[in-house]
Amino acid sequence: MVQSEVNVAVADKKSVGEGLVVKDLHVNVEGREILKGLDLTVRQGEVHALMGPNGSGKSTLVNALMGNPTYVVTSGTAALNGENILNLPPDERAKVGLFLGFQYPSVIPGVSVANFIRTALVSLTKPRARSESDLLTETGEVRVDGQSKENTDLKPTSYVGRGGVARSNPAIKEFRKNLREKLALLKMDESFATRYVNDGFSGGEKKRLEVLQMAMLKPKIAMLDEPDSGLDIDAVRIVSEGVNSLRGPDMGVLLVTHYQRILNYVKPDYVHVMINGKMVRSGGPELAQELEQQGYDWLRTDLGIEADDESERGSNDDDNF
Ligand SMILES: Nc1ncnc2c1ncn2[C@@H]1O[C@H](COP(=O)(O)OP(=O)(O)OP(=O)(O)O)[C@@H](O)[C@H]1O
Ligand SMILES: [Mg+2]
Repeated sequence: MVQSEVNVAVADKKSVGEGLVVKDLHVNVEGREILKGLDLTVRQGEVHALMGPNGSGKSTLVNALMGNPTYVVTSGTAALNGENILNLPPDERAKVGLFLGFQYPSVIPGVSVANFIRTALVSLTKPRARSESDLLTETGEVRVDGQSKENTDLKPTSYVGRGGVARSNPAIKEFRKNLREKLALLKMDESFATRYVNDGFSGGEKKRLEVLQMAMLKPKIAMLDEPDSGLDIDAVRIVSEGVNSLRGPDMGVLLVTHYQRILNYVKPDYVHVMINGKMVRSGGPELAQELEQQGYDWLRTDLGIEADDESERGSNDDDNF
């Protein structure tokens, strides 16, 4: 199936909202064009697998969408449920419901997993920064309806129960319960909650933590960049079960992977192949199987893409280091 046919199929599918809609996206990294006009639609309720050779631009796409300033969007559009996200800073993109599980998660010494996730949750519930036009009417008056609808799920920690007796905050209790459940789901020991973020974590533990964050933050669109890399066979299944348990009409997933194995568990609705900064083929789960069996060369041959076209990436570099 070619890209345009898939987009029609996506448009016909009954899903929640418009989802993440990316059109003709061009992205530069350090002055070099990496994404060269990319189209993609991921609706809530759908799972899309994104495959492609090393260096084809998969991580560039998800990082650019999340707002990493190293990845400079030079043209094209990206919207989440109709709202342009390209002008928003990363935290605002998270507030509209976008999430990125990193290919290479960072260590944050001194910050526990529990605190990190709770801080992220609290910040998601803070009102979004508003532009002048949101706050003021056309005549310059302050809008009365400009009040934020702050989510009151997480109240301040000083909670005084009946009779003036200080008790632990019910929101924190709820948070701990939820965290415990999600840790169990991902077969992570409860002691992870008190460890510093990724500090001394094995590769597999780091990937589980990314999925744990997704489970706790409940994004509308979750982009997972190789959640299966470095995982042993059991861990792939556990992480997949974690993703599957969150699947539903409210969440769309863009799953970047090199391997068919995770797709045996997390069955994708669509599979896309990126080569040299463009989507070259989209289809159903059978496309991933074909790639597993035949590699990318048959696609390159099919599409008349020379390996040289890809190596042209480095051609403007100096020969000497
Ligand atoms: N932060 C960066 N600094 C410099 N170059 C970068 C950076 N990120 C990506 N690139 C370059 O952009 C190109 C695409 O890289 P990207 O990481 O997006 O590929 P990928 O498809 O995710 O590959 P992989 O499958 O190996 O993860 C590569 O040539 C890479 O060197
Ligand atoms: Mg990558």
